[in-house]
Amino acid sequence: MNIIEIIEKKKNRQALNEAEIAFFIDGICTGSIADYQASALLMAICLNGMNDTETALLTDKMAHSGDTLDLSALFPTADKHSTGGVGDKTSLIVAPIAAACGVNIAKMSGRGLGHTGGTIDKLESIPGFQTTVSESAFFEQVKSIGIAIVAQSKNLVPADKILYALRDVTATVNSIPLIASSIMSKKLAAGADVIELDVKVGSGAFMKTAKEAQALAEAMVNIGKQNGRKTAALITDMDEPLGTHIGNSLEIKEVIATLNGGGAHDLRTLCLHLAANMISLAKNMEKEAALRLAEEALQSGKALEKLKQMVAAQGGDVCYIENPALFERAAFTQPVTAQESGYLQKVDAQCIGETAALLGAGRQKKEDSIDFAAGIILEKKCGDYVAAGDTIAALYTNQKESLAAAAARFQEALTIGNTPPQKLPLIQGEVL
Ligand code: URA
Repeated sequence: MNIIEIIEKKKNRQALNEAEIAFFIDGICTGSIADYQASALLMAICLNGMNDTETALLTDKMAHSGDTLDLSALFPTADKHSTGGVGDKTSLIVAPIAAACGVNIAKMSGRGLGHTGGTIDKLESIPGFQTTVSESAFFEQVKSIGIAIVAQSKNLVPADKILYALRDVTATVNSIPLIASSIMSKKLAAGADVIELDVKVGSGAFMKTAKEAQALAEAMVNIGKQNGRKTAALITDMDEPLGTHIGNSLEIKEVIATLNGGGAHDLRTLCLHLAANMISLAKNMEKEAALRLAEEALQSGKALEKLKQMVAAQGGDVCYIENPALFERAAFTQPVTAQESGYLQKVDAQCIGETAALLGAGRQKKEDSIDFAAGIILEKKCGDYVAAGDTIAALYTNQKESLAAAAARFQEALTIGNTPPQKLPLIQGEVL
């Protein structure tokens, strides 16, 4: 077998078999396949696709390219993954709710890049919080308090790191089998029995159309099921940011507000549905009963208590969770006001994510540092009526010079018109 024949086969739209997929993954990890050959195969996959069996085999070989976690001693365990968005802090609300309902959360998360944020950056904005934890400490923590969220270990799915770096520079990111295998290989290697997926659709998401989002959700659920994991997906709106706070410590404040019974309606609703799906799969329960359990965990303060226990166990200062006013405030703030009267017909998530990045809340490159206090608080959401001069949002930054460009970018996110918009529902579909 050689890689040229494998590339030729995919170029001719033929399905690859298990031995060929294993040869490819092994070859990129050992270095026996050159980057230009791997890139050629990625482009052929991008153009000609993969069937469900090939995608499941690719995912399995990738998942076993490095360390895998055996969480069976912690049963029932659940994990969740969002395909990424702006203001998406759901993991930090859903995980404590599920843990408070007796579902063990042993979760590895990532950092933000481009216009989207990452759970690990948000957690690191809590002073003292450690996201690099030894495997034994990670297991012990889940055993004792039922929840741990840590940074992805270095040797988890090395094949994905190699492939993602190549895809990023060869215009091959946007392929459903490649995205599905990339995400699901990391979820399979991380070991949870239940995998709840939140596939975002809209301007701020990877998937811009409902059709693409549905196809990605189906591909990922299929991979999870074929690998013996209970897997489900919600397809949810990312045309406008989720909730009202965007930026790392600002999002932690919104997490705390939500776990205290407040928070924006869209954020709270989505978190309850994601948590209910996880609980229902993990405990073999009807969704309605699981939703009631999730609501009770939120209202009683038990979920907030779980967050506090996790922060304390990972070295974070719990005083910040008890009194969010302690979080350092950015040195500079500026309101953004409506330039005309009317209904907010669009608050474009991608533009808002880019505004937050300009303020210092995000990274353009992996190595960039971020300003935890930077970001945006939205005072109005899509569908609200504004009069000219009303404040729509406040911008926060420690780099005064970024304010003018950020305010201009924010204005580009807005469409104001005479009629209320036809908003798509927050939850647009479900794949079980
Ligand atoms: N997130 C991933 O982890 N991989 C992709 O390919 C796309 C989004």
